[in-house]
Amino acid sequence: MSAPHELQPTDLRLGRIVRLLMEHATVVVSGTKIAQEISSSRSVVWRLIQQLRGLGVDVAGHPATGYRLRSVPDLLLPEILRPSLRGTIFDQQLHHFYKIGSTNTAAMSAAAEGAAEGSVFLAEEQTAGRGRGANAWHSARSSGIYCSAVLRPALPPSELLVLSLAAGLAVHAAIQVIDSRVEVDLKWPNDLLIGGKKVCGILTEMNAEATLVRYVVVGIGINVNQAGFPKELAEEATSLRLVTGSEWSRVELVGALLKSLDREYRDLLAETDAQASILSRFTERSSWVRGKRVQIEENGSSFDGTTEGLDSRGFLKVRTAKGVQTVLSGTVREK
Ligand code: BTN
Repeated sequence: MSAPHELQPTDLRLGRIVRLLMEHATVVVSGTKIAQEISSSRSVVWRLIQQLRGLGVDVAGHPATGYRLRSVPDLLLPEILRPSLRGTIFDQQLHHFYKIGSTNTAAMSAAAEGAAEGSVFLAEEQTAGRGRGANAWHSARSSGIYCSAVLRPALPPSELLVLSLAAGLAVHAAIQVIDSRVEVDLKWPNDLLIGGKKVCGILTEMNAEATLVRYVVVGIGINVNQAGFPKELAEEATSLRLVTGSEWSRVELVGALLKSLDREYRDLLAETDAQASILSRFTERSSWVRGKRVQIEENGSSFDGTTEGLDSRGFLKVRTAKGVQTVLSGTVREK
């Protein structure tokens, strides 16, 4: 049985219509012209315009008069994102969904079937967003960024933590590009916090042999325009809108993020000192990596200590009463 209509990739013609209307923002574009551009009939155009309206895109007009955009929509459509991604590894295979279970699950299955490096899966909403440690990821419609990228680095699995730390740096940089006043803290290994509350989480999953990675999916969830969170998350989560008091353009932020991730990734594969640079920049931007009293939960047991930096593969060193312990995964809490 095929997936329900809304769980399928977005009809590419929707993006083309939006792009066309954006390019003619000040005029009314006739249904006939749109129909020609997308090689469809005027009645199909009408149906697609109705779909766009259902998705919150503010289009004025009707078949007799033609159509005009009242405001630029903040939808993560490939047609809108692609121009800002030219020259990166992410500009070829952008997949957009209005609703999906999890972009990471979709990206992992696509990668297993041979999806190219640089394939990106974006969704407006996830119905089964996944976090680390079997947690769910709150993925309300069109307020956050839910983005998963397929990478195929020629690296041993033991070096993948550094890639995951680099993804955190990329999100950090992207937020700073849009608003340099926002103070973002990196929490090892994969959280971004503002004022102690979580604004972004990263879930890196891989398929690997003993010594070589086959593919990696870097899944990034950013809380962007949420005006609030469900009660059970309100204490620990925040959004860029909540901390700055204004709406953010998700299109701009995803563009900045993928450009920054592209740079980090290329450097990691090409530059001999990239790994050291990632570790030192992560340490610089994190209040958690050095001198923080923490409680670590790993593999069902827990211990307390003070963080003492990262080792050469990016693992967290913690000084405890019994000496320095290296944390490989696990959850870090402030003590
Ligand atoms: C965490 O902090 O626990 C990681 C959260 C990762 C969430 C993102 S949203 C896009 C991608 N798809 C998922 O199902 N999860 C990741």
